[in-house]
Amino acid sequence: MDKPRPSIDELAREYTAALRTYLQRRDEAGLQRAYELGRRGLSEGVGVLRMSALHHQALADIWPELKELRVPALRAIKHAGHFFTESMSAFEMTHRAFCEANAALRGMNDSLEEEVKRIAHALHDEAGQLLAAVHLSLDQVARDLQPQASEPLRDIKELLEQVGQHMRRLSHELRPTILDDLGLVPAIDFLAEGMAKRSGINITVRSSLPERLPVRLETVLYRVVQEALNNVIRHARARSVNIEVRSSGKVVHCAIIDDGVGFRHEGPDPLPARRGLGLSGMIEKLRPLGGGVKIESAPRQGTKLFITVPREVEYAYSSSRR
Ligand SMILES: Nc1ncnc2c1ncn2[C@@H]1O[C@H](COP(=O)(O)OP(=O)(O)OP(=O)(O)O)[C@@H](O)[C@H]1O
Ligand SMILES: [Mg+2]
Repeated sequence: MDKPRPSIDELAREYTAALRTYLQRRDEAGLQRAYELGRRGLSEGVGVLRMSALHHQALADIWPELKELRVPALRAIKHAGHFFTESMSAFEMTHRAFCEANAALRGMNDSLEEEVKRIAHALHDEAGQLLAAVHLSLDQVARDLQPQASEPLRDIKELLEQVGQHMRRLSHELRPTILDDLGLVPAIDFLAEGMAKRSGINITVRSSLPERLPVRLETVLYRVVQEALNNVIRHARARSVNIEVRSSGKVVHCAIIDDGVGFRHEGPDPLPARRGLGLSGMIEKLRPLGGGVKIESAPRQGTKLFITVPREVEYAYSSSRR
């Protein structure tokens, strides 16, 4: 956000004076001054558009004086360009740093995803093998007992069977292969079905996505929906949740709306006073993809999460593309 006008007016005056001097002298000190003014604009919250408007206005103000300053018009345009480029250096550096930070965040999210995959496989395979071993041991024990005495073992084996099913289900939800094979919507359907069964909440999923999305985007949206549903189950005391995924133009929208108890938030900050990692994690996952979440909630009025994220993010400085 831009700072109040007086500060900008002052910056504009100094910029015009510095540009005038530079057009006459065309020295290093002038370019250094342009750089400093750009830095000042940046630190005072002046945006790139305002900065370029300010430059344009400065040149327009100086234009009638060019004859008096003995600067030919063409040369003035060329050197004013150099001056402007120099004043933009700080913005350029900030933009680079932003892109690099985003690329690093995306990289971190990718490694986290790999780790989740590893845990999901370990849970599925290793815990599955342990359970199979327990089954075998129980069979062994049953063989050594009288048929009547082994009756309770049958109940234990049934319970073990259920534990195994739950674990397989959880490991699939943790990182569903459906997500890679069939895409976001079937994966959300699978997740919603399991969560609805466990919680008794009615979860509906509607989608009008015409095609698959980039892998990274599908993964992030899956994680966001997963956390939103976890929150509904843990906090909302809701009867139903509606999830809608659609795309319009180059933007994907996802809404998760529950009819639960909602929460209170202070002032313009939509996050609740009591914070965990869930909601802020959503924001952090979406940010490097250029997306965000709008949260609407109030006591006894349910919670609505509106997620928007561009289908493709192309940052010039992004190192990894998936
Ligand atoms: N759908 C919801 N309905 C009601 N309250 C919610 C809902 N989602 C979030 N909240 C409130 O917002 C708080 C913060 O949510 P967040 O997901 O950030 O943290 P958490 O769920 O408490 O903990 P964590 O996600 O780290 O395990 C919750 O503690 C809860 O009070
Ligand atoms: Mg949470």
